[in-house]
Amino acid sequence: MAKILVTGGAGAIGSNLCNTLARDHEVVALDNLSSGYRWLLDEKVKFVEGDIDHVHDLGLGDGFTHVFHLAAFFANQNSVDHPFEDLRVNIRGTLAVLEFAHRSRALERFVFASAGCSVYDKKNPLPLKEEYPITLLHDTPYQISKMTGEMYCNWFNAYYGMPTVAFRFFNSYGPGEVPGRYRNVIPNFIWWAMHGQTLPITGSGHETRDFIFVEDLVQGLTLGAFTPNISGEVFNLGTSVQTEVIDLASRINALTGNAAGVEYKPKRDWDKSDKKAADFGKAHKMLGFEPKTQIPEGLARVHEWFVKHRGQIEESQSLLAPEQRLVRA
Ligand SMILES: NC(=O)c1ccc[n+]([C@@H]2O[C@H](COP(=O)([O-])OP(=O)(O)OC[C@H]3O[C@@H](n4cnc5c(N)ncnc54)[C@H](O)[C@@H]3O)[C@@H](O)[C@H]2O)c1
Repeated sequence: MAKILVTGGAGAIGSNLCNTLARDHEVVALDNLSSGYRWLLDEKVKFVEGDIDHVHDLGLGDGFTHVFHLAAFFANQNSVDHPFEDLRVNIRGTLAVLEFAHRSRALERFVFASAGCSVYDKKNPLPLKEEYPITLLHDTPYQISKMTGEMYCNWFNAYYGMPTVAFRFFNSYGPGEVPGRYRNVIPNFIWWAMHGQTLPITGSGHETRDFIFVEDLVQGLTLGAFTPNISGEVFNLGTSVQTEVIDLASRINALTGNAAGVEYKPKRDWDKSDKKAADFGKAHKMLGFEPKTQIPEGLARVHEWFVKHRGQIEESQSLLAPEQRLVRA
């Protein structure tokens, strides 16, 4: 039985990871609840409320064999609006968690949540491979801070021999992501559609993203934690499948019976990536990673989760700071 710390454990991905790992292991979720929710966690997960900046002073104890560092100031637009908070959490906080993990003599693996949007040069062909050229010309502070996190992991690995592994997530979606102004397109589209609102398409609608279902992401992270001899490696976690935003909107409107259609709006001024997709061949070869859930099934499962938890989602929205709430499309 491993002893596992998950920072950001009450978040969209972290809660799914904690609930899965807690079936077989001792799991502590650390989260300051800035964009996470305690109700997402199963009872078997031990929850500690606190900021990663103070990770050394929270009485978390010692002896963690695995640390998953998922806590982050999420995400691109939020970092454009609040660059100092992005730096505090995603860079300073990451360094604090690395230091904390380094002091654990039992540590077998440190897993870092990086982002596919943060690293690759836009001139690379798709799907993106880990060995492709990286960029120093980022579109948002979040992309800079996520890439810096990877660089700190590399340094701890090279200097201290810390067993780090970084994963570059592409667009995650699934049960557990509560909509909000700074959240991803899928939960927000579903919430608007459930309220009979028009879905806003920022751009032509033909932009694509590689959407990976959260259970598949958790599969990759778990393999990354328990597969031997992969210290210092970095892996993409995506599906290689590109989905157009207009296709996503149409599917969600059909799924929810929303007749309000879509509305075109100007692109967000920082959003310079038209198309994205990950090559997951390295994770497949070295970890046996295989994404299983395709968009139609994944969307149906998110919708089901929204219907089941409508009241809790509504209440969670009301607890958000007003500027973080999802306003009408
Ligand atoms: N969701 C995606 O599509 C995606 C894509 C690429 C990378 N990632 C990365 O994956 C990780 C998880 O993302 P998510 O979608 O679950 O986001 P999330 O916002 O749901 O989860 C992050 C969690 O970290 C917590 N947190 C934030 N600041 C904290 C702090 N200072 N101290 C303690 N806890 C803090 C939040 O309350 C939240 O529960 C993040 O590191 C994110 O950058 C996500």
